[in-house]
Amino acid sequence: MLNTSFELPCGAVIPNRLVKAAMTERLSNTKFEPTAAHEHLYCRWAGTGTGLQITGNVIIDRVHLESAGNVAFDDDGMLPKLQSWAKAAQHTGNPCWVQISHAGRQANRFSTLRPKAPSAVQLQKLGLFGRPVPMTEEDIQEVIAGFVQAAKLAQAAGFSGLQIHSAHGYLLSQFLSPLTNQRNDQWGGSLENRSWLLLQVVKEVRAAVGASYPISVKLNSADFQRGGFSEEESIEVVKMLDTAGIDLLEISGGTYEKLAFFLMNDESSNLRESTRQREAYFIDFARKVRAVSKVPLMITGGFRSRAFCEEVLEKGEVDLIGMARPFITNVNEIASFLSGETAVLENLVIRTGLAALEDAAEGGFYARQLIRLAEGQEVNPGMNPIWAANFLIIHELKKALTRRLGL
Ligand SMILES: Cc1cc2nc3c(=O)[nH]c(=O)nc-3n(C[C@H](O)[C@H](O)[C@H](O)COP(=O)(O)O)c2cc1C
Repeated sequence: MLNTSFELPCGAVIPNRLVKAAMTERLSNTKFEPTAAHEHLYCRWAGTGTGLQITGNVIIDRVHLESAGNVAFDDDGMLPKLQSWAKAAQHTGNPCWVQISHAGRQANRFSTLRPKAPSAVQLQKLGLFGRPVPMTEEDIQEVIAGFVQAAKLAQAAGFSGLQIHSAHGYLLSQFLSPLTNQRNDQWGGSLENRSWLLLQVVKEVRAAVGASYPISVKLNSADFQRGGFSEEESIEVVKMLDTAGIDLLEISGGTYEKLAFFLMNDESSNLRESTRQREAYFIDFARKVRAVSKVPLMITGGFRSRAFCEEVLEKGEVDLIGMARPFITNVNEIASFLSGETAVLENLVIRTGLAALEDAAEGGFYARQLIRLAEGQEVNPGMNPIWAANFLIIHELKKALTRRLGL
């Protein structure tokens, strides 16, 4: 099954079932454009034979960055650079889609001190995030227009599709959650109101790109926080998306406050035993989605063995398999995984021994290794995990300073 093609409702065909899920690159130049490093990285990933690549967070406005190294799809002038990136990523003929996002309150202080968000609920993490300013009606309309502009740019650049990021605690996911959306206008309150921005974005983006262009939505199964966006609410949003005209739903989970998509390292999670048994973190939730939705389904997080991928595809539990970290640490084995010679992509476990640093070490380790690949080097599995834990802050600071100084 892994090597069979899959046709989306819009008519586009994905040549096999393995998808390189989004991983932020942190590689843009001072003008927020993609660079030769992006081209090198995506060219290499395309060479693995994966059926589809999804880019990391590409931001709709250069203020609300998820990382100081994000590409911002907000200026028609960068089209030639975007075209080169799309060409390199799709040089084998397999598609690459752009993940479009707005970080909202998760935009760190290196990009803005006063991020805009649904409500003034500050993200408390290492003092890195400013107190958000609640969005006005005009701001919200600008967000919709920003997603549309970014979608048009993705299409004009030659990328084969796009993904609207409504997971992991970024802006659209903040609107969905009652913890971060405390508005009492038409954009807050009931679940229908909290979902309204996501549905408007999907509707306007579809109108802009036409019926035959693939649109995916990445959605949290839950935020895994008390009082946050729950599984029950997520299922209701899935039902709303079912008739919204999307081609692929990708399920993930968690926010910056609770990194469920790195679950393997989360010793304290009570999901751990069941997920260890079933390998992929969100597979149980996928069954519930299947019961209420006909939209093609992909889940991401934890897939590592070929047998398990085959099993869930055979059973029809999902249509596509999303994988992220193995495209870094096991990049040289993806082709043989697809062909069947490699049965399991072994995880590298990154541990500092300090509970407070484990998330940062995991994130920093993979971020640094991704940059090594983009620079034409190989992965360095022996990297010091404490150093890795500090890498992201140093990298963000350096990127932001270089940009400020115009270097
Ligand atoms: C370095 C890194 C960067 C990531 N950046 C993004 C991103 O830009 N957008 C996104 O939706 N998920 C992002 N993720 C999450 C992955 O897409 C995926 O959900 C997660 O790594 C779990 O899948 P895995 O177990 O196959 O790695 C990132 C993960 C890593 C390791």
